[in-house]
Amino acid sequence: MDNLIDGRRIAGDMHAETAQRVTCLKEQGVVPGLVFIRVGEDPASRVYVGMKEKKSQELGIDSRTLVLDESTTQEALLGLIADCNADPTIHGILVQAPLPPHIDETIVFASVSPQKDVDGFHPVNVGKLMLHQPDGFRPCTPAGVHSLLCRSNVPLEGAEVVILGRGNIVGKPMAAMLLQKSPQANATVTLCHSRSQGVGEHCRRADIIIAAMGVPHFLKKDMVKPGAVIIDVGVNRIADPGSRTGSRLVGDVDFDAVQPIAGMITPNPGGVGPMTIAMLMANTVLAAERACSS
Ligand code: GUN
Repeated sequence: MDNLIDGRRIAGDMHAETAQRVTCLKEQGVVPGLVFIRVGEDPASRVYVGMKEKKSQELGIDSRTLVLDESTTQEALLGLIADCNADPTIHGILVQAPLPPHIDETIVFASVSPQKDVDGFHPVNVGKLMLHQPDGFRPCTPAGVHSLLCRSNVPLEGAEVVILGRGNIVGKPMAAMLLQKSPQANATVTLCHSRSQGVGEHCRRADIIIAAMGVPHFLKKDMVKPGAVIIDVGVNRIADPGSRTGSRLVGDVDFDAVQPIAGMITPNPGGVGPMTIAMLMANTVLAAERACSS
């Protein structure tokens, strides 16, 4: 049954567009520069940053990863970010979360120059998203979901959308994007969270469900209206004694049960994940284009 939204293919289309923009910038003598900052050796962060760095190099973006020791002070990290903010060859800065507990993530994200904040986490960029001011940066995962929906021709105008999860990285900015007064949005958005009542009822009304609360296989078949579009943002590691590593990654959607009744559905992996990287690359090139024209 082919109701899959192929995130890898759509991300591939976006990468081809981004690579063209990189070529165009290079003709003007500008090479987009992206710096990843990683603190400590969190295994998942190593994998994520490695994937992002590889893709940026494939696209002709000059990227490098700065790795700091787990015991690095917040002051030292802020000093490094200030150096990157001042370096005109660096157009994008990404500080990989999670940071060690002695470092305050809020302070760190707010110290990245808003013009280089390709993650879209700086309060200025969060505010610009809320105000629908297009000169900010949109956070990569919700922007990737928005792009997946638009490029899959899912009607958004007037659609009933339920977002599961109110996090700052996905749920809240996702709601802001779909609420915009724009033909590419104009949805009716319901944001459910851990204290919501009647989540199943909200979901059964939805034309589109975006699951981003981090609960393995939360969304069951009996919560889905037949024909609804299902987007699974979840990345959850669960025990799997039968696997070589003893665990595996699953999403927030009970995929096998939901796929047969969904209108369209993202596989996981291969749905939202590749789009997050595609949006990061696009944001980096956008940062370089803006720096070049300012
Ligand atoms: N950790 C998990 N997801 C993200 C992300 O999108 N950006 C950053 N900086 N860290 C993350």
